[in-house]
Amino acid sequence: MVENLTSPTPLHHTRPEFRKRVTTFFTSHRTLFTVLWIIAFSSVFVWQNNFVDQFSIFRKLDRMREMPKLRPVVFNLTDFGGVGDGVSLNTEAFERAVFAISKLGKKGGGQLNVPAGKWLTAPFNLTSHMTLFLAEGAVILGIDDEKYWPLMPPLPSYGCGREHPGPRYGSLIHGQNLRDIVITGHNGTINGQGQAWWKKYRRKLLNYTRGPLVQIMWSSDILISNITLRDSPFWTLHPYDCKNITIRDMTILAPISEAPNTDGIDPDSCEDMLIEDSYISVGDDAIAIKSGWDQYGISYGRPSKNIHIRNLVVRSMVSAGISIGSEMSGGVSNVTVENVLIWDSRRAVRIKTAAGRGGYVKDITYRNLTFENVRVGIVIKTDYNEHPNGDFDPKAVPVLQDISYTCIHGEGVRVPVRIHGSSDIPVRNVTFRDMSVGITYKKKHIFQCAYVEGRVIGSVYPAPCENLDLYDEHEQLVTKSAFQNASDIDYDF
Ligand SMILES: *[C@@H]1O[C@H](CO)[C@@H](O)[C@H](O)[C@H]1NC(C)=O
Ligand SMILES: *[C@@H]1O[C@H](CO)[C@@H](O)[C@H](O)[C@H]1NC(C)=O
Ligand SMILES: *[C@@H]1O[C@H](CO)[C@@H](O)[C@H](O)[C@H]1NC(C)=O
Ligand SMILES: *[C@@H]1O[C@H](CO)[C@@H](O)[C@H](O)[C@H]1NC(C)=O
Ligand SMILES: *[C@@H]1O[C@H](CO)[C@@H](O)[C@H](O)[C@H]1NC(C)=O
Ligand SMILES: *[C@@H]1O[C@H](CO)[C@@H](O)[C@H](O)[C@H]1NC(C)=O
Ligand SMILES: *[C@@H]1O[C@H](CO)[C@@H](O)[C@H](O)[C@H]1NC(C)=O
Ligand SMILES: *[C@@H]1O[C@H](CO)[C@@H](O)[C@H](O)[C@H]1NC(C)=O
Ligand SMILES: *[C@@H]1O[C@H](CO)[C@@H](O)[C@H](O)[C@H]1NC(C)=O
Ligand SMILES: *[C@@H]1O[C@H](CO)[C@@H](O)[C@H](O)[C@H]1NC(C)=O
Repeated sequence: MVENLTSPTPLHHTRPEFRKRVTTFFTSHRTLFTVLWIIAFSSVFVWQNNFVDQFSIFRKLDRMREMPKLRPVVFNLTDFGGVGDGVSLNTEAFERAVFAISKLGKKGGGQLNVPAGKWLTAPFNLTSHMTLFLAEGAVILGIDDEKYWPLMPPLPSYGCGREHPGPRYGSLIHGQNLRDIVITGHNGTINGQGQAWWKKYRRKLLNYTRGPLVQIMWSSDILISNITLRDSPFWTLHPYDCKNITIRDMTILAPISEAPNTDGIDPDSCEDMLIEDSYISVGDDAIAIKSGWDQYGISYGRPSKNIHIRNLVVRSMVSAGISIGSEMSGGVSNVTVENVLIWDSRRAVRIKTAAGRGGYVKDITYRNLTFENVRVGIVIKTDYNEHPNGDFDPKAVPVLQDISYTCIHGEGVRVPVRIHGSSDIPVRNVTFRDMSVGITYKKKHIFQCAYVEGRVIGSVYPAPCENLDLYDEHEQLVTKSAFQNASDIDYDF
């Protein structure tokens, strides 16, 4: 403060008194004796016990939580020759452990503890009735040399790899036709070391589609919780044609740019799934609900349904927070997305599809979403034209209907709504209720619609497009739209 600069400081006044106190302290014999005694004792302690090391070990023990016993039989990865030095390859240790657990199914299964350390491994399979438990400080590291990654046939509902025709790399942690799988821990990490993969992908050096970090196929009763997944080569967590899956208390991370296709969670032809209480920040969609690709997905015919997503914080600078599609040919229905914060993202919630996909997206409920600094908030895109090959049927048009957006709030949004239906793929029965999104751009063309039929109930800001019917808060019709097929789409901003 200016006053203190001109007047003498209070500190100046106290100085003589301070000096007097210090002098008194050191002339007191008893204090001096105590100080000397402490110094002498500490040197002996340090000499004998290496005090510093002991201290940090005490702290560590205090921090390291004991791993709970979640199955009748518990193994330690080191029992199978595992070495957590970040260099030794632990594939065989994991395989031996899984083999031992596979014999315990009738006795309630087995738990594999992965202690603190860096456990490098090539891809390995899980077995039924297995709990993989990652201690605090445990890191499973995926080897980044593709020669160690087995090739697998394409997913039947995709017909080919997502990036190359023909086979695809399997996932780091893989499972097929299993029941009762738990992957959990004290926030240990599965790290896919995707950097090398992303680089090779960008340089077009790979001949096959990259592998996911964790992929579980044709399985049921799956719980994945309390761990961190990071830097997947490709999609991070991919449950395929599975039933009864819970994913909670997860952290899923990848760089927000230059980490191509590192989707967080991709439920694919899955049923009865809960995703909650998690943080996802990745290089593509945080979540993308799928169900197969064009003619292959149509003939496989397995929808994703009964999916509940809640209490998440997500970020996707490249794509969207929560997506449905674009591969949705088996259909997607009965999805609820609520209490989600989407921040610093390109898009918040997006449904993407194209002619040729067939299938449907219906009975989708979005509730209590917050957008913070996102470019486009609510998106429906019907010309997402990526196809497996030229054999798709352009007449197989998806049906989009019964989609509601309630309690949508936010700030720093450029285009709050862009619902781009077409004469082939109109969007039917869309409901907006209680929406107020702070905008950062000019006020025209920010609630963009084309070929949309539906209604707005109560207060919606910014002003809705003319395609929608207006209802008051008592759900009484105020104005019926005369222009459901009006088109006001502008991708320039
Ligand atoms: C696993 O084995 C290692 C090495 O023997 C040991 O340090 C660690 O405490 C063990 N962990 C558990 C949970 O048994
Ligand atoms: C993992 O499971 C897949 C599918 O069942 C199988 O093809 C593959 O051989 C298994 N890998 C190992 C190492 O057991
Ligand atoms: C788990 O670890 C991740 C990555 O280190 C961290 O961001 C997250 O906050 C941790 N979660 C908990 C619950 O400690
Ligand atoms: C891809 O195929 C080419 C030509 O057969 C081969 O030279 C190259 O090593 C392969 N790359 C990888 C990563 O397998
Ligand atoms: C779903 O799986 C959990 C284990 O993750 C299990 O406890 C539960 O009984 C299963 N629910 C049904 C309906 O099978
Ligand atoms: C999982 O994480 C949640 C939230 O951080 C915590 O409340 C819970 O105790 C954790 N569970 C275990 C087994 O550590
Ligand atoms: C919709 O999904 C929820 C789970 O999110 C489930 O509880 C409910 O029964 C499903 N509704 C129908 C009609 O299947
Ligand atoms: C809405 O979601 C936020 C998290 O984004 C949560 O904190 C809040 O409690 C939710 N509100 C309601 C009414 O559930
Ligand atoms: C419109 O969709 C809502 C769900 O958003 C549903 O409850 C309602 O029955 C649908 N209306 C018609 C006419 O299908
Ligand atoms: C709007 O487009 C849909 C789908 O192409 C069509 O079925 C409907 O008749 C059109 N409505 C009007 C008023 O032109």
